[in-house]
Amino acid sequence: MCGIIGYIGNDNGVDYVLGGLKNLEYRGYDSSGICIINNSSQTNLIKQVGGIDKLVQKIKITKPNGKLIIGHTRWATHGKPSTQNAHPHFNNDRSIFIVHNGIIENYLEIKSKLTSRGYKFISETDSEVIPNLVDFYYKKVNSLSRAFRMALSDLKGTYAICLVSTIEPDKIFVSRLGSPLVIGKTKDKIFVSSDPSAITNKTKTVSFLNDFDIAEVALKKIKIFNQKGNKVSSAKFETISHNDSQNNLGDWPNYMIKEINQIPEVVELAIKGRLGANHQIKLGGLDDVSTQLEHIDRIVIVGCGTSYYAGLIGEYLIEEFANIPVEVELSSEFKYKNEPISRSTCLIAISQSGETADTIAALNKVKDFGVLKLGIVNSIGSTISRMTDAGVYCHAGNERSVASTKAFIAQVTVLSLLALRLAKTRNKSVDDLMEDLLNLPDKIRKVLDQSEQIQKLVHKYIKYKNFLFIGRKYNYPIALEGALKLKEVSYVHAEGYSAGEMKHGPIALIDKSFPTIVIATKGDLYKKTISNLLEIKSRGGPIILITNFQDQKIKNMVDDIVYVPESGEETAVQIISVALQLFAYYFSLALGKNIDKPRNLAKSVTVE
Ligand code: F6R
Repeated sequence: MCGIIGYIGNDNGVDYVLGGLKNLEYRGYDSSGICIINNSSQTNLIKQVGGIDKLVQKIKITKPNGKLIIGHTRWATHGKPSTQNAHPHFNNDRSIFIVHNGIIENYLEIKSKLTSRGYKFISETDSEVIPNLVDFYYKKVNSLSRAFRMALSDLKGTYAICLVSTIEPDKIFVSRLGSPLVIGKTKDKIFVSSDPSAITNKTKTVSFLNDFDIAEVALKKIKIFNQKGNKVSSAKFETISHNDSQNNLGDWPNYMIKEINQIPEVVELAIKGRLGANHQIKLGGLDDVSTQLEHIDRIVIVGCGTSYYAGLIGEYLIEEFANIPVEVELSSEFKYKNEPISRSTCLIAISQSGETADTIAALNKVKDFGVLKLGIVNSIGSTISRMTDAGVYCHAGNERSVASTKAFIAQVTVLSLLALRLAKTRNKSVDDLMEDLLNLPDKIRKVLDQSEQIQKLVHKYIKYKNFLFIGRKYNYPIALEGALKLKEVSYVHAEGYSAGEMKHGPIALIDKSFPTIVIATKGDLYKKTISNLLEIKSRGGPIILITNFQDQKIKNMVDDIVYVPESGEETAVQIISVALQLFAYYFSLALGKNIDKPRNLAKSVTVE
């Protein structure tokens, strides 16, 4: 939610900042802006409703340049997308400029205090109070550094802030609380960004800020303070590995289809070095906590959206293979529940971005409970990966499409490995799952080969406005995920349901205008799911069956069938999910929607 970039260097940084903003666009894309301060302390503020391409067009006209710049791409929380609400925001005499990600909860209070002292506000945002509050303190203490710290201590809520000023045109002041910020440096340039992947094409030497850190970033020196003004340390830099090819489309028309097609390699990477041909599981990220893992007797998984659905699959996997009771909770619910948690509970946080505010809050809630906190995270170095005691990275690479595809499959793959790692007994089903995981990439390639067939199917169903997705056991969470994917990229109404629940209400929806996608895989529950299918059929509902079982009897009873390669029920989850992702993708494509950046959404939900 909102992307921030800052630049200070020896040469013109406009193109660096625009490039960085383009890489951050997945975090918000309703408006954008930059503020450039040039050598003679003149400022150039350019804001625009719409994505970064529009900002680039606007900037091309005046060709500004400068060596101190901040930029922002917005996902609106307070106030509609408009030029006035776009960042950077500034104080009344336009000497202090800020970009902000997060929510200032007490902004109305601050606004009214400042208004009573003569300050004027021109936007509807919470963020605009920040430059004016800094200005208010600056006029009292005559030090920008102190004024920034004083203003920060008045703010309630969450923030990542970059501030530049004509008062000290050789510095960027930055701070974070509950929203990520990273500083990257080369010999003659310094970048600040919401996400390291936005700047790794410029530098891989980065320093992650912690909550409450306040940094004064100058080309020669970066000082880190705490809110009392004590210098805590110099920034600690590390080198991160990052594959920058994830940040460009290559020959693909959009990121969603590129990322779906990367899934076979993503699965290979997720199991590489962790599951060998000799069927040994090695999860290096858990080595340090292996004794604690021996003693856990309950697992609580937390996550949001797609990551929560991955967690539901994890519940089936861990209970089946490791025989440990698992509960899966939406992070946004868990954090407000008064749930009894004992020291032998393990909390697993699942997050693609590693920055989701609710999941961070769930982890914070158990901070003092002494429980083992594990992370299943894709984004290396992210807040959740650093808050947890140990964890397993998904290694899906940077995911640019707002709708998660490859990261979800990697999460489920890692959960399968975790279930096997926790399994105390070695039996045939353990060996079968290991073999299935090794064969999974090739089976997913076969689903990708069916893309054209799925696209044709979409064209047949494009006229429908509602869809139901149903399945049992492992196929229930993927029905939920299939429906979420369709609704978020095509804006078509879709519901996921457990097939066994149909008779308890949802079957009332069924008529000839309401198609159902039935997921039924070979195994114990195939026949039961087919009974639900027939109940829908008898009520006139159109049916698309997705299955891995060649059952001649069913062919004439459904409207369409998508066959996917056969596998055990645990890995059928990933295989079928890829088919459902393609279904959602082609639906969105046929309707001409903005596939990578669906309306009202943003990747990385860093506010509550
Ligand atoms: C849907 C999607 C979201 C995210 C959710 C959690 O396609 O991507 O539902 O799964 O916002 O985000 P992370 O996984 O980054 O915590």
